Amino acid sequence: MHHELAATVMARCDELAAISAERHGLTRPAYTPALRAAHTLVTGWMRSAGMTVYEDAAGNLVGSYPANRSAARTLIIGSHLDTVRDAGRYDGTLGVLVAIAAIEALQRQELRMAYGIDVVAFADEEGLRFGHSFTGSLALTGRLTPEVLQINDADGVSLAEALHAFGGDPEMLAQDARRADDLVGYLEIHIEQGPLLEAQDLPLGVVSAIAGASHCQLTFSGTAGHAGTVPMELRHDALAGAAQFALAVETIARTTPDLVATVGELTPHPGASNVIAGQATLSLDVRHQDDDMRAQALHELQSRAAAIAQSRGLHLTWEDRQQWATVRMSPHFREQLRQAVQAVGYTPIELPSGAGHDAGILAEFTQAGMLFVRCQGGISHHPSEAVAVEDVAAALKVVEQFLMQV
Ligand code: GLV
Ligand code: MN
Ligand code: MN
Repeated sequence: MHHELAATVMARCDELAAISAERHGLTRPAYTPALRAAHTLVTGWMRSAGMTVYEDAAGNLVGSYPANRSAARTLIIGSHLDTVRDAGRYDGTLGVLVAIAAIEALQRQELRMAYGIDVVAFADEEGLRFGHSFTGSLALTGRLTPEVLQINDADGVSLAEALHAFGGDPEMLAQDARRADDLVGYLEIHIEQGPLLEAQDLPLGVVSAIAGASHCQLTFSGTAGHAGTVPMELRHDALAGAAQFALAVETIARTTPDLVATVGELTPHPGASNVIAGQATLSLDVRHQDDDMRAQALHELQSRAAAIAQSRGLHLTWEDRQQWATVRMSPHFREQLRQAVQAVGYTPIELPSGAGHDAGILAEFTQAGMLFVRCQGGISHHPSEAVAVEDVAAALKVVEQFLMQV
């Protein structure tokens, strides 16, 4: 049964990968018609697994599988259905579909637990559209701040407007949030997005902690001008300053143990081949398992950016966008997951997550655990993300075991 269900999960990942907001590749930002189409498909799969389905005020898709008694608490099993730009097909999606398959397995055995199970597909984890991550899980836990609703996407549509158009209700977010007392906890299944499991020849791993991160946006402002006439020594080229900073980010990260830092977006203005850039805006993503080390690195990066701006006669603005602290997964769920992995016949190992996850938000609200599934070459946030059907079957067995134990 597990292998057959795992094959279904793989086929469904393929089916969802065809639902994109762009012609080429998989790009499924929050609250778009593409996400709506994905919800429609997933709703059907949830219903055929015996769940009743609704969307909460934040547009998260929820499939509820009832307990074997009334007034029971709820275990949430979740992940996300939104993606990054030109994404792989498993990041987020795999976790949602494994959860549905696990419920399908319960239904086939006519099994109900002493607790209800809600499979939650978060609508906005990646933050691609609004530059704000974990919007869905922050709303579910009652911690989405009102300012976030005012953030605009590239077309000037606010998050509140987009959520409303999607069928959600920005006014109802607080009332619709879960109460921690009603929950058993939170479980997330996700591809590892790193190479450790593959290196150890293991299909699964238990997450110990999720690394903290800071997201910032920097703008270097100089003077636009003619590429053919302004002498080099008279230029205040904003793009050259931003590029110098991007290289400094790389150097600082390379020379600081366990620090990772990334400039993933860089936009020059006005952006023409024969115009010196008058302005350049870039994103900065800084992560470390140790929050103090991350704070130190940010401090160093800030002074470096200021020094670069000064030496080039540029103006710098630095905006802190979002940050989250390193968060440990619940000791109890970690232990339960390790036991489940062992019971199914694999060596239980623990590993930290360098990527952010909704589980990090939920871990500050209820007991939370994460199960990682090996992915080929550790590749993710790339179209060539790949997982093996046998590993998905192994994950299903462990989830089923976990549900029996917990
Ligand atoms: C989210 O997936 C992140 O790690 O940025
Ligand atoms: Mn991701
Ligand atoms: Mn993810």
